[in-house]
Amino acid sequence: MQFLSITSATLLLALNAAPVLGATYSLSDSVVGSGFYNFFQWENIADPTNGRVTYVDQATSKSLNLTFASSNSFILRTDFKTVLSASGPGRNSVRIRSAKTYTTHAAVFDVRHMPQGCGTWPAIWETKESNWPSGGEVDIVEGVNDQSPNAATLHTGAGCTMPQSRDQTGTAGQLDCNTAVNGNTGCGVTFPTTTSFGPSFNSNGGGWFAIERTTSFINVWFWPRNSGSVPSDVKSGASKAVTDNWGTPTAAFPNTSCNIPQFFQENNIIINLTLCGDWAGGVFSQDGCPGACVDYVNNNPSAFTNAYFDFASIHVYQ
Ligand SMILES: *[C@@H]1O[C@H](CO)[C@@H](O)[C@H](O)[C@H]1NC(C)=O
Ligand SMILES: *[C@@H]1O[C@H](CO)[C@@H](O)[C@H](O)[C@H]1NC(C)=O
Ligand SMILES: *[C@@H]1O[C@H](CO)[C@@H](O)[C@H](O)[C@H]1NC(C)=O
Repeated sequence: MQFLSITSATLLLALNAAPVLGATYSLSDSVVGSGFYNFFQWENIADPTNGRVTYVDQATSKSLNLTFASSNSFILRTDFKTVLSASGPGRNSVRIRSAKTYTTHAAVFDVRHMPQGCGTWPAIWETKESNWPSGGEVDIVEGVNDQSPNAATLHTGAGCTMPQSRDQTGTAGQLDCNTAVNGNTGCGVTFPTTTSFGPSFNSNGGGWFAIERTTSFINVWFWPRNSGSVPSDVKSGASKAVTDNWGTPTAAFPNTSCNIPQFFQENNIIINLTLCGDWAGGVFSQDGCPGACVDYVNNNPSAFTNAYFDFASIHVYQ
């Protein structure tokens, strides 16, 4: 971990001042185009959330064009061509996990397009799969069935809660992050902008999501593509990120009553795209989607034409 420009003076400020100040970080990973194939490992596992998907390996995702890299773009999608047999496996999709793990860090996800369509449940998040939930989980992007806006959520073991009043632009939901409370609702913050998720995000050209995790807080930001206040280091993928300049976070998770290093261990970055499953399937009709989720996925491949991520880049700073 390199906190290059933290002096004891800024550290003291960070401890005493509200809002808590961030730091200056150095670029450790710049992931663009075919760089995604090395930075991430393909998880061809059974979907832990019971989705109607089959996660394929890297060679298969390339040969089926479910992942595609150009010099400035990485596409990750579900199959949108095959009618599925009800008794056969789920629609082919992709779930990728970074080879590296991170504790304190900042990361910027420049996303042009996210999967949309009834039944889709895309996520960009961080966790330690081998020690869930004790190793912590931070959902940076997550939602289902095109329902905007985005929410950022922590999921932890028992003993991590968030204060109602926080310096953030989003709206706090449940305050207890414990996965055992209310069926793993977690402590979420709903974003203020409809352009943060789904079709509205896509028609607006996407935007930037960012996370900063320190030993005393976790912050998440979102800037829509057309925002006038995108920090210059975020926009340019600069070699240094100065989080002090990033403004009020969209979602703030302070350590007021949650010891961050105790509840969050070294996490991987994970990007997954499932269909139906515990959440998207559970609220499919409520969200105005037609019929039964699994039937819809089986019989309507063309409904998944826009079920893809287009990443301009991921930049990780340490
Ligand atoms: C593969 O996917 C990319 C990105 O969506 C697309 O531009 C390209 O035409 C596709 N290739 C084939 C053979 O379908
Ligand atoms: C991805 O998998 C994780 C772990 O099972 C789960 O918490 C998350 O909700 C999943 N999201 C998607 C979109 O599959
Ligand atoms: C919050 O973080 C500060 C700074 O690292 C630390 O002194 C304090 O003990 C932490 N509080 C909790 C409840 O973890």
